[in-house]
Amino acid sequence: MTERPKGMSLKEFFSLVWWDWHINRGITFDRLRSMLLLLEIRWEQFIYRNCYRPRNPLTLIWYLTRFLGSIFQWVIATSIIPGDAEIGRGLRLPHPQNIIVTRLAKIGDFCTLYQNVSIALNGFNPTKAPRLGDRVMLGTGSIVIGDITIGSDVIVSAGAVVLRSVPDHARVISPRPTVITDYPSRDPAEPGSKRHIEDPYSLWR
Ligand SMILES: CC(C)(COP(=O)(O)OP(=O)(O)OC[C@H]1O[C@@H](n2cnc3c(N)ncnc32)[C@H](O)[C@@H]1OP(=O)(O)O)[C@@H](O)C(=O)NCCC(=O)NCCS
Repeated sequence: MTERPKGMSLKEFFSLVWWDWHINRGITFDRLRSMLLLLEIRWEQFIYRNCYRPRNPLTLIWYLTRFLGSIFQWVIATSIIPGDAEIGRGLRLPHPQNIIVTRLAKIGDFCTLYQNVSIALNGFNPTKAPRLGDRVMLGTGSIVIGDITIGSDVIVSAGAVVLRSVPDHARVISPRPTVITDYPSRDPAEPGSKRHIEDPYSLWR
């Protein structure tokens, strides 16, 4: 069972909320979504840190908050970022969409998570979650799995799958895709024709 976490003061809560607002402020729809999502995540963290007590009925408040929070997160961003993940100041979420962070993961200060990022457990050893240092950027669609540590000042490229620890000041680049040149279509359909509509791949046949 998870140990009792360190409490969070109201001052710490408001400081986290202020940094989130400061880093994500703007007038686009996604900025607004990020700020609402982060506000809810910080509230969950506050409840988790102050109410989670193993074998104590107070813990029910945490479970209820997580339940309602997961519905809110699904509605606003189809994301799952639970309050029992440790997240430092100023998390930047430019497009807060489909971001999955496992419980008990650690994310340092001033990190950036783009859309479709997963910070996940390895199902074969599901007790240890990834730990990210400060100023880590996870590009869109990147996946960080298992009992690993990503150092500080690291960039993980779009689409990279990280299964091993990464030192400070590193860049993790996904493999280059193979480009097959000179691959002409033999019998392409006319765009918008009946054949195209019935068989979308016919544009390239
Ligand atoms: C990781 C990232 C930041 C790198 O950007 P960059 O520095 O402009 O990338 P470059 O293509 O110049 O590559 C940097 C170096 O890595 C090398 N490199 C790139 N991909 C490589 C690969 N797959 N294998 C080996 N080397 C590679 C390049 O050759 C280059 O080396 P060089 O300077 O010696 O020529 C960028 O690719 C990325 O993924 N950003 C995420 C952005 C994102 O998710 N945005 C979401 C917006 S909604």
